[in-house]
Amino acid sequence: TSPDMIDPFGRAITYLRVSVTDRCDLRCVYCMAEDMTFLPKAQVLSLEELDRLCGAFIGMGVQRIRLTGGEPLVRKDVMTLFRSLGARIGGGGLQELTVTTNGTQLTKHAEGLYEAGVRRINVSLDSLDPGTFKALTRWGDLEKTMDGIFAAKGAGLAVKINAVAMKGVNEDEFDRLIAWCGEHGFDLTLIETMPLGEITGERTDQYLPLSMVRSRLRQTWTLEDTDYATGGPARYFTVAETGRRLGFITPMTHNFCESCNRVRLTCTGTLYMCLGQDDAADLRAVLRDPSVDEAGLQQAIRDAIARKPKGHDFIIDRRRKAPAVGRHMS
Ligand code: GTP
Ligand code: 5AD
Ligand code: SF4
Repeated sequence: TSPDMIDPFGRAITYLRVSVTDRCDLRCVYCMAEDMTFLPKAQVLSLEELDRLCGAFIGMGVQRIRLTGGEPLVRKDVMTLFRSLGARIGGGGLQELTVTTNGTQLTKHAEGLYEAGVRRINVSLDSLDPGTFKALTRWGDLEKTMDGIFAAKGAGLAVKINAVAMKGVNEDEFDRLIAWCGEHGFDLTLIETMPLGEITGERTDQYLPLSMVRSRLRQTWTLEDTDYATGGPARYFTVAETGRRLGFITPMTHNFCESCNRVRLTCTGTLYMCLGQDDAADLRAVLRDPSVDEAGLQQAIRDAIARKPKGHDFIIDRRRKAPAVGRHMS
C-alpha cells in the first residue's frame, strides 16, 4: 500500500465505498422515511467526476471499490461508470469492483455488470415473505427482487444476501433464509440495525442483538469458524449443512473498528472517514476548483485520511430515542 493511505492508527485504507445516488425506488423502514427529499442534481457529482475521483483514490492505493446508494442501479447511465471503473481492473490498479443493490433493476443490468468486470454483488433481502417484504420496503415487490437475484446468478455473478435483523419482524425467518441461500448457492450476512437517520422509538425497540441470534441458530446449524475476511465488518462462519458462508455484522455489540480498511464517498463528493462519525472532507469543492490539479486533489485525500478517527461510538439510547448519527446509510 502507498504510505498515503495509511491512517494515524496504522490501518491501510484500500477500500472505497461510493454512494452514486441518494435516491432509491424502495423505502426500507430502517433506512428512509416514506417521503424523502432527495438532493438537487447540481449538488450531485457527474459520472465523469465520480470516475475521476475514484481514479485518484486508485492511484493512491485503493484496491477495491464498492458502488452503493441509495440504490446505485437507479442512477441514469450508471453502467457507463461501471464500465469506466471496470476498465481500471488489473493493470489500472483496481483489484475488485462490486456493488450493493436492492436487486430491483438486476434483470436489466446483471449481464452488463458482469461484462464491466463485476464478479460478486450484495443484494439486500430481509424477508422471504411477500407481505413482510412489502411492509419493510413500504412498496417493494418480492418477486421483482427475486427475479433480479436469479438474473444475477444466471449472469455468473456470485451473490451475497444482506438481511437486517429486526425483532418481531423477520427474526423467525433466519433458518429459512439460511436454507434458501444454501439451496441457491448464495452467501448470507445478518446485520444489526444501526441507529442511522431519523430513528423512531419503534426502531429502537426492534434492535436485536445478533449474539443471541447466533446461539439460537447453532441449535439447528453447525457454524464452523473460517479465516474468510473481506476487511469489512462481517465475521464469517461456514454453515456445514449448506457449505455456504454466514456472516454477522454486529456494529452494536462488537466493535470491529481496529481492522477498518475503508472510507466512504457520498454522491456529493463528501468523504466520510467513518460511518459512525460526522467528520468529513468536501472533495467536490476541490474537484470543481479549476486552480487545483491532480496533485492538489491527492493532497486533499491524503489530508482526509490523516483525520480518520479511531472508531465509532454508536449507542442505543432508549430514553433519548435519538439517532447516534443523523445521516442515512447513503
Ligand atoms: P464486503 O466487505 O465488501 O464483502 O461488503 P460489506 O458487507 O461491507 O458491504 P455491504 O454494502 O453489503 O454492507 C453490509 C453492511 O455492512 C451494511 O449494513 C453496512 O452498513 C455495513 N458496513 C459496511 N461498511 C461499514 C463500516 O465501515 N462500518 C460499519 N459500522 N458498518 C459497515
Ligand atoms: N442499519 C443496518 N443496516 C442498514 N442498511 C441500511 N440502513 C441500515 C441501518 N440503519 C443496510 C441495507 C443494505 C446495506 C448497504 O445497508 O440493508 O443491505
Ligand atoms: Fe433503498 Fe437500500 Fe435504503 Fe432499502 S436499504 S431504502 S433498498 S437504499
